[in-house]
Amino acid sequence: MASVQTGDLAHLWTNNPMYDAVIDEIDGRRIRIGEHWFVDFASCNYLGFDLDPEIMAAVDVAIRQWGTHPSWSRLLGNPRPYLDIEERLTELLGAPDVLVLPTITHIHFSVIAALAQQGTVFVERRAHKTIYDGAVYARGQGATLLRFRADDPEGLEAALRTAARPAIVCLDGIDSMTGNAPNLALLQAICVRRGALLYVDDAHGFGVVGERRDDERSPYGSRGNAILRHLGLNHDNMVLVAGLSKAYSSLLAFVAVPPAIKQHLKVAAPPYLYTGPSPTASLATVLAGLDVNAERGDALRAHLYRLTRRVLDHLRHLGLPTPNRLGTPIVELPVGAGVDLDAVTQLLWRAGVYVTVAAYPLVPRTEAGVRIQLTAAHTDEQVQQLLDALTELAGFLGGGRR
Ligand SMILES: Cc1ncc(COP(=O)(O)O)c(C=O)c1O
Repeated sequence: MASVQTGDLAHLWTNNPMYDAVIDEIDGRRIRIGEHWFVDFASCNYLGFDLDPEIMAAVDVAIRQWGTHPSWSRLLGNPRPYLDIEERLTELLGAPDVLVLPTITHIHFSVIAALAQQGTVFVERRAHKTIYDGAVYARGQGATLLRFRADDPEGLEAALRTAARPAIVCLDGIDSMTGNAPNLALLQAICVRRGALLYVDDAHGFGVVGERRDDERSPYGSRGNAILRHLGLNHDNMVLVAGLSKAYSSLLAFVAVPPAIKQHLKVAAPPYLYTGPSPTASLATVLAGLDVNAERGDALRAHLYRLTRRVLDHLRHLGLPTPNRLGTPIVELPVGAGVDLDAVTQLLWRAGVYVTVAAYPLVPRTEAGVRIQLTAAHTDEQVQQLLDALTELAGFLGGGRR
């Protein structure tokens, strides 16, 4: 990440109304900021579970049964819903076993160090900041931290030959900006050959992409059971991490590992003992979300894919490039050098479209742009509003680039 200069940040705050904005009210996938209403395309609630009446209703029932918050750290007392969630996730993922902790950040900060010990952590060049920070913590505990590129598997394999063991190779599944996936089959084969673990953070893939089937309703596949199943990979030498805070609109995360490693992590990963648990509402929305996923998940994903396809087709028609090749609901629009990102943000703001702005110094200048995310709770009318804004943007960029 670029080093943050106070002046650059001040510029960001002054010129980009989509940073640190206060949301005063929501209405479906619309949000109100002060006097202005926007359609929200910055939400990671891919399945629309945050607004699902069946899931909302589950919260009240669970709180009457369990109170608002369990309060025990997991090692000191596990309310039954934790075990139900772990069992159901294990079945959904086809994983050997699953351990849940409050957030992915907690997992990266504890599990990477626990697995790497005095060995080597490889972190992919584009890996999410929380993976990198978890690896830095592991380095503080005695591991060696090395970077690698997913598009240079030979380089990784060569480095693995001499790396101290245990070796753990960390990267994102579905990329949080491009919406694309790395070649995990190739990386898994390398890790199996070299006796390393492949540690994959699929925060944005879980709930969206899943196993391929003849009767699937969209190219996302079925069941939303994450990138490994989507790519037809098994769990050999794999550690799969993902969270419920995106597609499932809840605060919980999981790591899928064999039972022996799960037992080890219960004592070696500090949050299992030292961190407060997710609130009852989160446990309830995860369980209700798993029910809704089983009943209606594939229909929601088919709707989500159709909305995303509309956006991608429109961008192609306008000649606006996006790195998204998989059709996942994460559509990045890189803003090339020489284009004023503030002006792009302000155009979208005036058009009533709220997006994630990736601006310098929060990303390197070469990676500046905007990210549009679709969710199953968007309507066709809302997507049309986005398409109209993108048409206007294409006109602006065409003029701006000349
Ligand atoms: C790829 C990725 N990993 C990890 C995280 C952090 O997840 P959590 O909020 O569960 O700590 C995010 C959230 O933005 C993410 O996009």
